[in-house]
Amino acid sequence: MSMPNLVPIPELYVSYDSAQKLKIEAGNLPSWDLTARQICDLELLMNGGFHPLKGFMGQADYDGVVSKMRMADGTLWPIPITLDISEKFAETVEPGQDVALRDAEGVILAILSVTDKWVPDKALEAERVFGADDLAHPAVNYLHHQAGKVYLGGPITGIQQPVHYDFKARRDTPNELRAFFRKMGWRRVVAFQTRNPLHRAHQELTFRAAREAQANLIIHPVVGMTKPGDIDHFTRVRCYEAVLGQYPAATTTMSLLNLAMRMAGPREALWHGIIRRNHGCTHMIVGRDHAGPGKNSAGKDFYDPYAAQELFKEHATEIGIEMVDFKQMVYVQEKAQYYPIDEVPDGSTVLDISGTELRRRLREGLEIPEWFSFPNVVEELRRTSPARSKQGFTVFFTGLSGSGKSTIANALMVKLMEMGGRPVTLLDGDVVRKHLSSELGFSKEHRDLNIKRIGYVASEITKNGGIAICAPIAPYTATRRAVREMIEAFGAFIEVHVATRIEECERRDRKGLYKLAREGKIKEFTGISDPYEAPTTAELVVDTENVDVDHCAHQVLLKLEQMGLIKG
Ligand code: PPS
Repeated sequence: MSMPNLVPIPELYVSYDSAQKLKIEAGNLPSWDLTARQICDLELLMNGGFHPLKGFMGQADYDGVVSKMRMADGTLWPIPITLDISEKFAETVEPGQDVALRDAEGVILAILSVTDKWVPDKALEAERVFGADDLAHPAVNYLHHQAGKVYLGGPITGIQQPVHYDFKARRDTPNELRAFFRKMGWRRVVAFQTRNPLHRAHQELTFRAAREAQANLIIHPVVGMTKPGDIDHFTRVRCYEAVLGQYPAATTTMSLLNLAMRMAGPREALWHGIIRRNHGCTHMIVGRDHAGPGKNSAGKDFYDPYAAQELFKEHATEIGIEMVDFKQMVYVQEKAQYYPIDEVPDGSTVLDISGTELRRRLREGLEIPEWFSFPNVVEELRRTSPARSKQGFTVFFTGLSGSGKSTIANALMVKLMEMGGRPVTLLDGDVVRKHLSSELGFSKEHRDLNIKRIGYVASEITKNGGIAICAPIAPYTATRRAVREMIEAFGAFIEVHVATRIEECERRDRKGLYKLAREGKIKEFTGISDPYEAPTTAELVVDTENVDVDHCAHQVLLKLEQMGLIKG
């Protein structure tokens, strides 16, 4: 019996010798530095993961895929695979030319023979592919705000695989997996796609799926790009490794897939099916809300929770993979067991912990019950997401010169050092200007650069579990927001507006600068001849006029305590 899932699948790589030659020749071609997402797409194009695609889509294929999920020749394909580029680069290339595609370090991975260059209708792409032109959808947001304005299409000549330094042994190309299945004699293989750590509900679901399909199981997590805000893949892979021992080794394997997800729900489910077929799988699990992007800007789900299963059912035969569909799994307390939600015995107590609730419990260091997850998975998650009282954070004071920022910041630093536990760094305005920004002046451009440098250092400190206290003037709202975003990726950001009025700052004039500014001897002086945009979203506003420094610093401590960042 021929097993189409086990025979080798075509790749787009040339031979080793040709690759060496091409690499040298390609040095003279116009070259495009691939984005992280494009590298993921290119890897799966070259290794057969996106078979039968032979390159980035041309316009006719793209139009067909967007409007009816079919390429120009009728092949089913649900997601556009396009090479988006900047307008500037687009001016330098024309159809008929070759372009060298490079990774972030400049290594040439492939050559694109350009056949098409066009400006896509992104709103239409969003509507058709993702169901709505709504920026709350991560892929729509990416399409409008990150993807280039122009698309290039054409066949790819593969030179080398993108380089990965992490979990090398766990990554497999479609042909490597097919060879493994051949070697093991696995004719039926059910794939479990995931972008989350595995908890007990997932284990139960995968066990049941393998039993139902009488198939072997491959846990096939995505490690390319998932939904922004997801747990990073390093942590997840360690979590998967921690539970792998709970599965029967003879019938279960795990492999990492360098896919850049789009969170396109039903269309994405089909895409995942095609990719798993290409990786030699015969079955795929499709659960509740497969590849769901969350809520839209009106607070409603983008897709019906079982729409992905419906669409998959329609196309499974054409794709050549069977769906194993599952309802949501929930824990039934009386039975001490997981059940699909539609099979729960009448009158029983159902327990469930949502992703949001799990994150809250991790953040606050609360219990995560054994019925929900495995102790070693929870331990791994706690290592990466320690309770807030153990995470780094940044306190960012902003206010006019002479408002008292530095004095309060110093007092706060001493109080935090007295408490101990985390290293504390003070990035005071004057100190920063001496050591980090000595060449900068006070134009808007230079001030922004100065604040961004402070933000970068503070974000590194926060990432590494320390406390950064910053005390610059930081007069511009947008720059303060940019710093907040940088830091909130790693820990809490507490903006404190030291709201001393300009009249009071000038009355104090501790450094004599206001006098000089009034005399025009210092130009662009904040509050006198330069703007200060007062914060409207600060976590705390302190008034120094009728309150002493010690009390101001104490107010900040109370705020930190209230936010769970320090333990009382
Ligand atoms: S900014 O806008 O955030 O980059 O400013 P910052 O780095 O905090 O620097 C402010 C300190 O520089 C002194 N100084 C001036 N401040 C404002 N405007 C002008 N033109 C200026 N020239 C020198 C001043 O001493 C500020 O210190 P603080 O501690 O705020 O009083």
